[in-house]
Amino acid sequence: MNRPSAVIILAAGEGTRMRSATPKVLHNIAGRSLLGHVIEAAATLEPEHLVVVVGHGRDQVIEHIAEIAPWALIVVQAEQLGTGHAVRVALEDLDGRGAVLSDAPLVVLTGDTPLLLGSTLVQLVVAHDQAKAAATVLTTRLDDPYGYGRVIRDAAGGVQCIVEQKDATSDELAVDEINSGMYAFDLAKLRGVLGRLTSDNAQGEQYLPDVVSLLRSDSAAVAASMCLDSSEIMGINDRVQLAAVAAIMRDRINTRWMQDGVAIVDPATTWVDIDVDIEPDVTILPNTTLRGPTSIATGAQIGPGTTLVSCEVAEDATVIHTWAELAVIGPRSHVGPFTYLRPGTVLGADTKAGAFVEIKNSTVGDTSKVPHLSYVGDAQIGTGSNIGAATVFVNYDGVEKHRTVIGDHVRVGSDTMLIAPVTIGDGAYTAAGSVITEDVPPGAIGVGRSRQRNILDWVLRRRPGTASAQAASQANKPVTQAQEEK
Ligand code: UD1
Ligand code: CA
Repeated sequence: MNRPSAVIILAAGEGTRMRSATPKVLHNIAGRSLLGHVIEAAATLEPEHLVVVVGHGRDQVIEHIAEIAPWALIVVQAEQLGTGHAVRVALEDLDGRGAVLSDAPLVVLTGDTPLLLGSTLVQLVVAHDQAKAAATVLTTRLDDPYGYGRVIRDAAGGVQCIVEQKDATSDELAVDEINSGMYAFDLAKLRGVLGRLTSDNAQGEQYLPDVVSLLRSDSAAVAASMCLDSSEIMGINDRVQLAAVAAIMRDRINTRWMQDGVAIVDPATTWVDIDVDIEPDVTILPNTTLRGPTSIATGAQIGPGTTLVSCEVAEDATVIHTWAELAVIGPRSHVGPFTYLRPGTVLGADTKAGAFVEIKNSTVGDTSKVPHLSYVGDAQIGTGSNIGAATVFVNYDGVEKHRTVIGDHVRVGSDTMLIAPVTIGDGAYTAAGSVITEDVPPGAIGVGRSRQRNILDWVLRRRPGTASAQAASQANKPVTQAQEEK
C-alpha cells in the first residue's frame, strides 16, 4: 500500500442533534472519544501528516487532540460552509504553513464514525492505487439509506456523481449504495476542482462529494471501494445512534475477548473499554463494566455487578459487587460483595476486603483481612493482620489527613476507632469498642473505653409494667418458685 501523504479528518461540524454542551466528536464510546477511534483507524495507514479540521467547540477539541494525538496538525475552519469547504481550508492552511504534501494519495475521513476499521482504510487506498483514480469513494449498501448521499453509477458501472438526500430525485433516493463520507484522492486533481465547488444546493453548502461529478466532467477516473460490513461506516448524529454504535462496539470487543479465552457469561451486560487487558480463563459475570486501562490476570472472577476503573487484578482474585478505581487487587484476594475501593488502594496476596468496606490510599499486606463494615483511609497494614468489624480509621481532623500504621499479625477489635496519626505495633491487639488515640506497643493490648457498670433492677423501678420488666422479674425468680409455677 502507498502510504498516504495525509489523512484529513473533518470534525468541525456542530453536531446539533446531540443536544449537548460537549462537541459531538468528544462523546465517548468504550473509553475513547469518537474522534479518538477515527484517529486510531487512520494511524493504520501511517500517513505522512494527520490533519484534523476543527471548528465548533474547537477549544475543547484542540485540547483533547493535544492529549491523544499531539502529532496531529490542527486546522481551524472558522465557519462551517460544508465538507468541500473544510477540505479546501485544510489544504490552504497546510500550504500556508509550508507543509509539504507528497503526491501519495490524500485520504479524507469524518470524525464521527468510531466503528471504522484500519483494514477497511487500507482496502480503500489499495483500490485507489489499483484504479489509478483521481478519487475513490468508500461506499456501502444499506437497507435504509435515508439521510446519506447516494452513489449514482453510469451505464458502465462507473461512479458518476453523489447526490445528497435533500437534493435527490425519487429515482436517486431508491439507490441503496451510499457514500460513507470517506475518500482517497489524487491531490493535484482534487486541488484542480475544489475551487469550482458551489453552494448551489438544498443545504447551501459546498459539498465535498460534488468533486466526483467535477472530476468526471474533466474525464478523470472515479472509483469506488465497497465496504461489506456497513456498520463500519455508521456515523453518529444523535444519542440514539451513539447508543446503537456503542452496543456494536461492545459486542465487537466482547467477541474478541471470548475468542481469546475469556468467559463472558452475559455479553449484553458486560462493557469493556478498548484499553482493558484480560488474560485467558478470566470469568466475567453479568452487569460488569471494566473501564480505563484495567488489567485482569488469569483465573480471576469479576462480577456480577462490578465496575473497575483503571484497576489491576492479579490471578485467581474474586471481585463481587464492587466499585473500584485505581486500585490494585493481589493474587487470590477476595473483594466484595458491596465493597468500595478508592484510588491508592493496594491489596496484597490472599487478602480480603469484605462487605460494606471502603478503602482509600492504603496498603493491605499479604493475608490481612478487613472483613466487614469498615473504613480504612491513609493506612498501612502489615501482613497477617485482622481488622475487626466496624473499625474506622479516623484519618481526618477536619483540616488535615493523617496516617495509621498497623504492624504484622495485629488484631484490631471490632468497633475500634483508630484516631490517626497512630501506630499499632506488631502482634498487638486493641480491645473491641476502643477509641485508640495513642500508639500501642508490639504485643500490648490497647484498651480505650470506659468500664461497664450495671445498675441492678433499674428496669423494674423505672419501667414497671412493661414487657421488659415482666421478662426481667420472670428471669429473676428463684429457680424453685419458677418450677412450682409450671
Ligand atoms: C456527509 C456526505 C454524505 C455522506 C455522509 C456519510 C456531504 C455533503 N455529504 O453527509 O454524502 O453520505 O456524510 O456520513 O459531505 N464538517 C466540517 N465542516 C463543515 C461541514 C461538515 O468539518 O463545514 C464535518 C462534520 O463535523 C462531520 C463531517 O464533516 O464530521 C460530515 O458532515 P455532516 O454534516 O455530518 O455530513 P452528512 O450530512 O452526514
Ligand atoms: Ca454525518
